[in-house]
Amino acid sequence: MAYTKELSFSYRNPTRIVFGEGSALNVVWEMEALGVTRALIVTDEGLMKTDLPERIREALGDKCVGIFGEVQPDSGVHIVQRGVEVAQELGADILVSLGGGSSIDTAKAMTIVLKGGGKLADYLTKPIEGPLMPHIAIPTTAGTGSEVTWIAVVKDHEQGVKHVFLSDQIFPKLAILDPQMTVGLPPLVTASTGMDAMCHAVEGIASVIGEPIADALNLHAIRLIMEYLPRCVEQGDDLLARGQQMIAATMAGVGFGNSLLGIVHAMAHVVGGRHGIPHGIANGILLPYGMRYNLDTCPDRYALVAEAMAVREKGMSEKEAATSAVDAIWEFTKRMGHPQRLRDVGVPKEDLEACAAGTLTEPNMFTNPRPGELNEVLKVLQEAW
Ligand SMILES: [Fe+2]
Repeated sequence: MAYTKELSFSYRNPTRIVFGEGSALNVVWEMEALGVTRALIVTDEGLMKTDLPERIREALGDKCVGIFGEVQPDSGVHIVQRGVEVAQELGADILVSLGGGSSIDTAKAMTIVLKGGGKLADYLTKPIEGPLMPHIAIPTTAGTGSEVTWIAVVKDHEQGVKHVFLSDQIFPKLAILDPQMTVGLPPLVTASTGMDAMCHAVEGIASVIGEPIADALNLHAIRLIMEYLPRCVEQGDDLLARGQQMIAATMAGVGFGNSLLGIVHAMAHVVGGRHGIPHGIANGILLPYGMRYNLDTCPDRYALVAEAMAVREKGMSEKEAATSAVDAIWEFTKRMGHPQRLRDVGVPKEDLEACAAGTLTEPNMFTNPRPGELNEVLKVLQEAW
């Protein structure tokens, strides 16, 4: 897994990033800089019960044409379609997404249909041609990294499948990272969304298409998460910790957007999809088990993770360091009160075989350092159960 002289890659990171306490309230200046005047806020039903959408609407003043607040967890093609209709009715010329991955991905998907017409599913086979309507993302969680990726995941609830759209066109123009947007997150959501970011960073390091720039981002994200995520969980209004965790999630987002992921996300998408387990929780449970699956294939990469986690002791071999990283992840989730077993979140043991079979064909497996073997993947899931 070390770099070779044959290394070649293309690095993506076109989204401007603005960070700072209160920066979300400056969104109107950012809009003006983009030369647009009619913003539609895209947010989720949960956030509509808080004052955040209204605060952003006030900040936008007469530049806000409305709020589309119908996004649900695991956003759907029907929600995207509805959002498109609302944006067209109101004559929006920019989308401002406010929320976690679901809201941001919904806005990305809306921009695709707003430009090209038809239905979102058409673009599974049809090219996405830009430029698309500009999109400013204001995350309210610190985990998915969607604010800086070229990826949108939208579920077709009728068919029970998740569609993944990959396109350089759907990068948000701007990501505004305001730690004040995340202070209201409850401890478990803070921990699990934070573990999603940890998974992005660790899986990015082990990916078969990893490269030095993504590695740098992923490794520093791990350092920040180790230091600040437990503080966010223990004291939700610690704005320094909230801010650093947001930066870490965004760094890991740029990192994994370039390196892509591996078996942990493959398993998490399948298990989570079949049993309605939130993405971060599934990843947080499965990370140490997935790392063990890869341990003998890329001990050098996990040794780097151990160094970033500050658990590699002097004299440890690569294999020992890699093992210490796996153990440290387990201790880390335990310390934060994060679930550690699939049985804790209601996955029935008799479904593990189907989950293992689904994992083998999940696209994230293609960049995992060790190929999928059915019996071995099943063993991983049984250990995690
Ligand atoms: Fe993720």
